[in-house]
Amino acid sequence: MRVGVLTGGGDGPGLNAVIRAVTKSLIHQCRAQVVGIEDGFAGLQEGRVRQLDWRAVSGLIHLGGTVLGTSNRHNPLMDGEEGVQRVVESAQALGLDAVVAVGGDGTMAIAHALWRRGLALVGVPKTIDNDISGCERSFGFDTAVAVATEALERLQTTGQAHGRVMVLETMGRDAGWIALEAGIAAAADVILLPEIPYDVEAVAAVCREREARQRFTVVCVAEGARERGGDVVVQEIVAGRDEPVRLGGIAHVLAAQLQARLSSEVRATVLGHVQRGGAPTAFDRVLATRYGNEVANLVLRGEFGRMVTLRDGAFTSIALDAVAVGRRCIPPDHPLLRCARQIGVHLGDAGG
Ligand code: F6P
Repeated sequence: MRVGVLTGGGDGPGLNAVIRAVTKSLIHQCRAQVVGIEDGFAGLQEGRVRQLDWRAVSGLIHLGGTVLGTSNRHNPLMDGEEGVQRVVESAQALGLDAVVAVGGDGTMAIAHALWRRGLALVGVPKTIDNDISGCERSFGFDTAVAVATEALERLQTTGQAHGRVMVLETMGRDAGWIALEAGIAAAADVILLPEIPYDVEAVAAVCREREARQRFTVVCVAEGARERGGDVVVQEIVAGRDEPVRLGGIAHVLAAQLQARLSSEVRATVLGHVQRGGAPTAFDRVLATRYGNEVANLVLRGEFGRMVTLRDGAFTSIALDAVAVGRRCIPPDHPLLRCARQIGVHLGDAGG
């Protein structure tokens, strides 16, 4: 059996641990021949592969990024059925019996189209945003939360020293999971999420109240957050990408809004790709290894057209067409929102 592995879309901590676990599981269990496909679907279409043996994947578990390279610019779906057919034919020419695609919702949509065209394909969900529908925990998220938590803690000490309002912007696209978990872990005073449009007067009131009492305030804002009645802050729109809209900049917008209403200084920090780079946490290494092992088992059982996923704490799989519908945002009745409110964290809504 000859199996190809690729990573698509943005990178995330734990990708190399998945590549390692898929390869080792397939070699160990059935002496499969495993090849790494370079730069996602672009490499698959162009036939750029390299052998992955036991040695090639040793020493990978702790490495950030992806040793295979990735791309969110090559989307065969943009060339319609012809583009899809070209990739399927290339996979056949490479003699691949199966392909494992590791990526986010864009990658899974492509994977689904290729599978419908006859490619034996399985998926592994990847995103630091933790927002893939049908998957309660993606690897990389824990690392992003850990990095954002540390950043908030660092901002807290300098903010405290100067009596400032410190605003940190996290990633997460349209979902606020990173901001919510990091904000709670680092004891942020205000957490602003895409799911709850904020009232700037209410946020300013929290800062003013703390100005008098504790001198400093830490605000954690997700990049997809927006003012009530306002729009998300877009950094740029890049045509031809899986996700053309690049969010970013809400921290600066919010800082200016607050500065106009407060006497203490307000500072903004945008954490950016620091959240996505570097070594995965031990939790993510284990989670990624389990995902890699589970997807290898899907291949061995011949269960194609599916994505391995975590539901109610157990690994299972769902059909790829069930993945392509929507993102998993924080539901209004999520227990973590209730917990945050009950311990006095302000979530930006007028009611507090
Ligand atoms: O989806 C992961 C993510 O890191 C988002 O949180 C962020 O909005 C986006 O990717 C950034 O993408 P890029 O690396 O292409 O700028």
